[in-house]
Amino acid sequence: EPAPPASFVIFGAYGDLTKRLLIPALYNLSVAGLLAEGFEVIGVDHNERNDETYRQHLTEAMQGFVANQDGEFAADSLNSRAWGWLRDRLFYLTGDFEDPATYQRLGERLATVRQARGHGNCVFYLATAPRFFGSIVERLAEAGLMREQEGDFRRVVIEKPFGTDLASARALNAQILSLVEERQVFRIDHFLGKETVQNILALRFANGIFEPLWRREHIDHVQITAAETVGVEGRGRFYETTGALRDMVPNHMMQLLAMTAMEAPSNFGADAVRAEKAKVVQAIRPLSPEELARDLVRGQYDAGMLRGAPVPGYRQEPNVAPDSGTETYVAMKLQIDNWRWAGVPFYIRTGKRLAARWTEIAIQFKPAPYTMFRETPVDCMTPNLMVLHIQPNEGISLALSAKQPGPALHLADVRMDFRYADWFKAEPSTGYETLLYDVLIGDASLFQRADNVEAGWAAVQPMLASPPAIEHYAAGSEGPAGAEALLARDGRQWLKLA
Ligand code: BG6
Repeated sequence: EPAPPASFVIFGAYGDLTKRLLIPALYNLSVAGLLAEGFEVIGVDHNERNDETYRQHLTEAMQGFVANQDGEFAADSLNSRAWGWLRDRLFYLTGDFEDPATYQRLGERLATVRQARGHGNCVFYLATAPRFFGSIVERLAEAGLMREQEGDFRRVVIEKPFGTDLASARALNAQILSLVEERQVFRIDHFLGKETVQNILALRFANGIFEPLWRREHIDHVQITAAETVGVEGRGRFYETTGALRDMVPNHMMQLLAMTAMEAPSNFGADAVRAEKAKVVQAIRPLSPEELARDLVRGQYDAGMLRGAPVPGYRQEPNVAPDSGTETYVAMKLQIDNWRWAGVPFYIRTGKRLAARWTEIAIQFKPAPYTMFRETPVDCMTPNLMVLHIQPNEGISLALSAKQPGPALHLADVRMDFRYADWFKAEPSTGYETLLYDVLIGDASLFQRADNVEAGWAAVQPMLASPPAIEHYAAGSEGPAGAEALLARDGRQWLKLA
């Protein structure tokens, strides 16, 4: 069903996010018939352009985007009706984000829409540098543009990074919530747009057989990995002051942890789900000074080989200091202080320029209590392992022991596999479609509430305050040796990056 008509105002109209993800996602929504006739995009940026040049710019970007898609989607040419439809609904407004006059003009523009189309629904999408987030909301509110009249909605979508530490995230929340209502604020974490991330809740709460085992009595430990092969991709300037810890952990990794570890919400309403997620992240035990030195590993990639080709080290990337101390990898051991998880370590690792692109959650179950198979000593019996493959090769697998055929009773490791691609035909997707559609229909379940964002920062705050020294790892490797040692100390090991 199409979402209600709305003006979709993008601050940062000429930015990378807009052309790489937002416009392609809106295009996919229009192909699926999920945008209403009265939908339009108003791009706002400082460049002196007009509607026509803006349309031209995005048409070129979209041609590149479609050419890069696989299979069926590539056949869907941009001359298609869907792009024509969306293209005619692209408008451009030149303006400085800090200048009240921009908001004045935007207000006049929205007032004419209201007269012509009979609705004043509006989504303001802040696809800008983070330093503008607070001031744009402030200007919007001052200009009266966040006021909802006669059944209209006014919503603001805020990209990450939301703050750079706990104090700044709190300050930004306080500033925003002094101007608008929480229900008008949609803080994006794009991991929540991934089908497989949403599927964690379906797996756990739409099946009766897993949840009874999903606890300390049966689970030995959990590993959450987000490994990337890409480096900093021309984002050196941003990354230098950010690093892997801030870039990935309080947001994406905490979302994966929360989905895996949260209690069942009483319903799937946005507030019930977000309350359970906040609770479990708040239950993460802050690392003590000794734990910070022992259970947190920071790494930075040196030059190395990736799929047979040499790649430069982080310090050689553009806009990176030759003696940079920024981490491109972190691994850590976290404990959740609640009845379900006490004593079950959650090992988390994420890094750039690793051997494979691989986002997974591995649930290691405890071994059978003793072996009655005399020929297979206990240490040769593999405990059950369930892996939720987030990307690529989306799916779920369960490792089991089985009897090998033959007269002797020998055990072997086997796997049960569910692959998304075998069961479902996925629509082409950037991962932003669901999120943008949800903003338009007003469903905030997949967005971060103020307390979720702050809980994520609170969990990493001690790590930001006293970070351990950086270790180096070769690009294309499995990461720094310290990460292996972190698990080895507990008699465990990471799953290999396939
Ligand atoms: C972004 C980070 O939020 O997530 C990037 O800023 C990272 O550094 C990206 O590469 C990973 O997202 P995905 O969807 O490619 O796994």
